[in-house]
This record gives sequence, structure tokens and C-alpha cells, in this order.
Amino acid sequence: MQAILCRSFGLPDTLTLEDIPSPTPVPGQVLIQTKACSLNFPDTLTIQDKYQFKPPLPFSPGSESSGVVRAVGEGVTHLKPGDRVFTFGSHGGLAEERLSDANATIPLPDGMDFVTGASTLYAYGTSYHALKDRAQLQAGETLLVLGAAGGVGLAAVELGKRMGATVIAAASTEEKLAVCRQKGAAHGINYTTEDLRQRIKDITGGKGVDVVLDPVGDQWAEPAIRSMAWRGRYLVVGFAGGEIPKIPLNLALLKGCAIVGVFWGAFTQKEAALSQQNMQEIATWVMQGKLTPHIYREYSLSEAPQALTDMMERRVIGKAVVVL
Ligand SMILES: NC(=O)c1ccc[n+]([C@@H]2O[C@H](COP(=O)([O-])OP(=O)(O)OC[C@H]3O[C@@H](n4cnc5c(N)ncnc54)[C@H](OP(=O)(O)O)[C@@H]3O)[C@@H](O)[C@H]2O)c1
Repeated sequence: MQAILCRSFGLPDTLTLEDIPSPTPVPGQVLIQTKACSLNFPDTLTIQDKYQFKPPLPFSPGSESSGVVRAVGEGVTHLKPGDRVFTFGSHGGLAEERLSDANATIPLPDGMDFVTGASTLYAYGTSYHALKDRAQLQAGETLLVLGAAGGVGLAAVELGKRMGATVIAAASTEEKLAVCRQKGAAHGINYTTEDLRQRIKDITGGKGVDVVLDPVGDQWAEPAIRSMAWRGRYLVVGFAGGEIPKIPLNLALLKGCAIVGVFWGAFTQKEAALSQQNMQEIATWVMQGKLTPHIYREYSLSEAPQALTDMMERRVIGKAVVVL
């Protein structure tokens, strides 16, 4: 089978496309024929050895994929060959066949196509957990989403709107902000050309925002916290901007606000029942057309390094998907 391989840690142009033998599932695993693999920011970090999980070399990157079960390992009873599934793990998706933990593999709803399936779990799962379980976002509140045209960001824009919030999207280009408006943002701020704090002050009439969802960190975290309303909730989601910011704690005191951590991967393990309920709700909304992943571009397997480069260079809007 063909697979993109990371043989030594580095940038996407060091990845190779190779023919390798098919793997065999061990107990608790399933072998999946990959149909689509959507990229997520951690995939760009894993290949550079900059992420919290370090797969043994060589490995195929790609955490989130959909496909068809080809074989199941001993002890796997809820899946069988021929089942259409989506799956999530630290790596393996950028290959024609992938081994996955059966517990992280879920049947794809009837009628959901593979590209949509591969683009649904991670971004919506993270944003819904953040907004619903961690921030308890209420209808009528204001929600600021940073990096709002990224995978997690755009999912938060759509979900925030569905949950009845007034969504303020912050992103780096007008093109990105236009997509955020199509997905339900009431306001757009270009945080590379406009003063983020002043614009939030103007939009909220000086009150500040109730909830901030921040997948970017770096230089944007502190001005966002300084723009919070009384009893606001600032969601720490990620640091795509590069730096993990250090925040003066007096800001939390002065604003009477909460700085709230979000770790979706751990949530799916520690609170599996609640996570499955969230995923069920998300899948239903996707099937009803109430949520629609925005697909930036479909790439072939040989174009996967280009897809990772596009993500690192901030070109991707929504999801980049490799189709096999
Ligand atoms: N805590 C959790 O459970 C959890 C779960 C999922 C993801 N995450 C984290 O959330 C973050 C976003 O993930 P994602 O998959 O949504 O990524 P993504 O699609 O690449 O979106 C990231 C966004 O960050 C912005 N950005 C600012 N500076 C950047 C830079 N130097 N390089 C790249 N992007 C930059 C870009 O928007 P602009 O160009 O508009 O600034 C981009 O759209 C990542 O840090 C990821 O690790 C955390």
C-alpha cells in the first residue's frame, strides 16, 4: 500500500511517498482502508517532533480520517469488515491503510460522505466541548473567536451561532473574515491590521466579550483577556501563533473572569459518555445540514506535504482534506 512516511523529523518537504506492506491489527485494533484524512494543526507539529505525542519513526502522519474497516483484531466486537467509520489517533491517516484503536473508531452515520466524516470529529468535538462544557456559553452572550477561519475556529463560529451567541470573528485576512460571516459571525476583526481591543470595545459598547475561544495564543491572548466582560470565560485551546503566552494573574482578578483550560483528547477518555453524547449531537446537526465543514481544498495523497505546508503558512480556511 502507498503511504506518506516521516522517516526523520522535519518540515513537510522531508516527507516521502512510499510503497510499504499492509499492517495487521493486534487485539483491540482495527485495520481501516483510508478514504479521506483531514489535517489538523498538531499534524504539522508531530512531523517536526514539536508535539506532546512522539510516534516511533518511521510513521505516517495524519490524526483524523474516515474509511472502511478491512479487518478487526481479537476482542473487537462493535465493528466488522465493511463498516464505514471515522477514527482519531496520534498518526496513521496519510496512508491507504491505517491501524486504529477500536475505542477511537466510530461508525459513520448512514449517508455521511467520507470527506465530511474526516472533517467532523476533531474541530467540532473540541469547539463544542469548549463552548458547552467549559464555558457554558449562553444564548445572548458575546463570543470572540481568535483564528476564526481555522479548523477549530470556524467550527466555534458555527457552533457559537447555533448556541445563540453573537459571534465576533478575528482572523488575518478579509477573505477569511468573509467565510466567517457566511458561517454566522456578526462581526469581523482583522487582528493583523486593526486594534483588537479598540474594535471589541466599539462592538460591545465598552462591556467586553463574555467568552473568548483562543486557539492562537501568542500576542493575541493578553489583549483578548483585557477585553473580557465581568464574569467572562477565556478558553485556552491552543498556541498556533507559536508562543505560549504568560498572563498577569491580576487581569483575572480585575475582570472577575475565569481562565479555563480545554483538552478535548483527555476529555474523550476521562468523560467518555459525555463526549459520545456531544459527538452524537454534532453528527445529527451535520446530517441535518445545520453544521457544514468548510472544505478549503481536496488534495491527493502525493500532495499531502503541500497540504501541511498550506496549513503552516496560514492559507487554509476551514479544513484541508487528503482524499484517497
Ligand atoms: N486543546 C485542545 O483540546 C485542542 C484541540 C484541537 C486543536 N487544538 C489546538 O488548536 C489550534 C488550532 O488547531 P487547528 O487544527 O484549528 O489549526 P488551523 O486550522 O491551522 O488554524 C489555526 C489558525 O491559527 C492562526 N494562526 C496565527 N498564527 C499562526 C501561525 N504562526 N501558524 C499557523 N496558524 C496561525 C491562523 O489564522 P489567521 O491566519 O487568521 O491568524 C489559523 O487559521 C492548534 O494550536 C491546536 O493544537 C487544541
